[in-house]
Amino acid sequence: MKKILRLPVVAARQAALIFRDLKMSLRLPAVQSETENGITYRGMHRSELTSINNLYVLMNGGSNIALARRFVYWLVGNKIVIVVSKKEQGEEKIIGLNMFYFNKKDVRQNTIHDGFVGIEHSFQGLGIGSRLRRKGVVNFGGTYLSGISSRIDVDNKASLAVTLKVGAEPVEQYTDPVTGAERYYLINWFDK
Ligand SMILES: CC(C)(COP(=O)(O)OP(=O)(O)OC[C@H]1O[C@@H](n2cnc3c(N)ncnc32)[C@H](O)[C@@H]1OP(=O)(O)O)[C@@H](O)C(=O)NCCC(=O)NCCS
Repeated sequence: MKKILRLPVVAARQAALIFRDLKMSLRLPAVQSETENGITYRGMHRSELTSINNLYVLMNGGSNIALARRFVYWLVGNKIVIVVSKKEQGEEKIIGLNMFYFNKKDVRQNTIHDGFVGIEHSFQGLGIGSRLRRKGVVNFGGTYLSGISSRIDVDNKASLAVTLKVGAEPVEQYTDPVTGAERYYLINWFDK
């Protein structure tokens, strides 16, 4: 019964999330495609939504990208999801992703939130994550946005390394109320 009563609240929250993401994203250009050393960094294609979600599930402990966000990415994924791909035997294979969205705090401070970055395990440690981070900064740095926010576990050394390297700075350390993990909230201001 309680669950049924909460349905309108959940639906209103999801609608607000979709509205926020779309309102902020529609003013952004599509991510430009760039290829370096056979690896392409570009905006997501609508047809890739399922592959992107599968890669996310694989790298994020089995959880899917939230349904409301998948809807947003179906509409504007070419502007706020950066995909890393590689040609293998004539087929284009997705080997990494960097997905972004807008929290209420981001709207207030005119930032975009870096929601998840991941490189397929066999391609990690080759500099691709660093290149992907740079691509995000150059891409969003050329828009109306003022910076990129992110949340990273204090013990995720690789993720911290690639994020600090492109100019982000921790502005807060806190304990995640859900997982209990120690985390940093970081911001990379473009005007620095
Ligand atoms: C984080 C991630 C995207 C980095 O991608 P990558 O392609 O492996 O990154 P790069 O090869 O460009 O660089 C990795 C950096 O981390 C450093 N690093 C890796 N493991 C490390 C460790 N245990 N301690 C310290 N530094 C470490 C490397 O030295 C390198 O830094 P350098 O270039 O200054 O030497 C990748 O590790 C990943 O997908 N991890 C799993 C998903 C994840 O945790 N995502 C973040 C959630 S917010």
